[in-house]
Amino acid sequence: MQNTTFRFFKEQIARLAGGYKLDVPACPIKLNQNENPYDWPATLKQAVFERVREQDWNRYPPFVPAAFTEKVARYLGADPAQVLVGNGSNELLYAVFVATLEPGRKVLIPQPTFTLYKLLAEILGADVITGGLDDNLQYDPAQLEKLARDAHVVVITSPNNPTGGVINPMDLEHLVQTTHALWVVDEAYFEFHGETALELTRTCPNLVVLRTFSKAFATAGLRFGCMVCHPNALAMFATAKLPYNLNIFTMAAVEVAIEHAVTLKGRLEEIKRERERVARLLKAARGVRVYPSRSNFLLFETDRDPRALWQAMVGRGVLVRDVSGYPRLGRALRVSIGRPEENDAFLKALEFAITEVPPGGKP
Ligand SMILES: Cc1ncc(COP(=O)(O)O)c(C=O)c1O
Repeated sequence: MQNTTFRFFKEQIARLAGGYKLDVPACPIKLNQNENPYDWPATLKQAVFERVREQDWNRYPPFVPAAFTEKVARYLGADPAQVLVGNGSNELLYAVFVATLEPGRKVLIPQPTFTLYKLLAEILGADVITGGLDDNLQYDPAQLEKLARDAHVVVITSPNNPTGGVINPMDLEHLVQTTHALWVVDEAYFEFHGETALELTRTCPNLVVLRTFSKAFATAGLRFGCMVCHPNALAMFATAKLPYNLNIFTMAAVEVAIEHAVTLKGRLEEIKRERERVARLLKAARGVRVYPSRSNFLLFETDRDPRALWQAMVGRGVLVRDVSGYPRLGRALRVSIGRPEENDAFLKALEFAITEVPPGGKP
């Protein structure tokens, strides 16, 4: 792409352009993005509209949204001096990477994991190192320790997407305390698992914890996430974040979400129960391997061409995620846990697809 028309682009942008996309055919049953299948009740949406109506839309939001951040911090159980807020945790991840990565620096991203990390790191020109997961795609602390010695930044996702695996908290503590790298721990699926590294941020300046309201909180459409780090590091990360990033609508919605957390997160136990039920039934199906998951999705492998299975399920109105293009996942698909009737429809669609697609094929 080094033609003269586009010579102003960085070399890596030309190389990466169009590489991050999502195939989303319209399907009545949508189990491809790990969303909460239960939308907000109308009364709570109304409460957000009313809160926003009372505000001045012609004015910028506060330069530092201190009162709002304090509410988020109280909810998280962190000190407000440790918290930054953003339009989804992705935005904060971007700020963390902008503050730390550049050409010549290494970032350790154990694979397979959430695709965005590698893409952003490469856009910034950093060298991506992979490794750190064992043969069963679980975190391997000894490997991580060895590889982290060479890295400026390490990204750990716990529970990991798309595997559902988690890091042992004691291992993480040891790794953070005995290495010089910045450890970015993405806890997007924290509520489905329950273990967090948040407490460690009080004492470890080389740790960032990312959280999102997109999953358990059923707020993906509003885009809200936050990060927690040591107070001494916060100003540095804040420097790489755009000013006025959060709009008044998102802030009003998040305030309502926090006030009504019990209602919005009311289905978590059901989702976890459904995860175990679906995993059990998947395991019973011939030729299906299911990875243990502490999240709201399941990764599974079959002896069929995953793309053909995906297509056959789309044909039956069920959309799952084809993750077979991820490193080490040539035979895998990922399904988000939905409502019980959606999960049943998925299981039926998979059964149908397995009879339709012959064994073998790719990869
Ligand atoms: C591991 C992980 N982190 C972050 C996100 C996105 O978070 P947000 O919506 O807060 O930007 C996702 C979404 O799928 C994810 O799987």
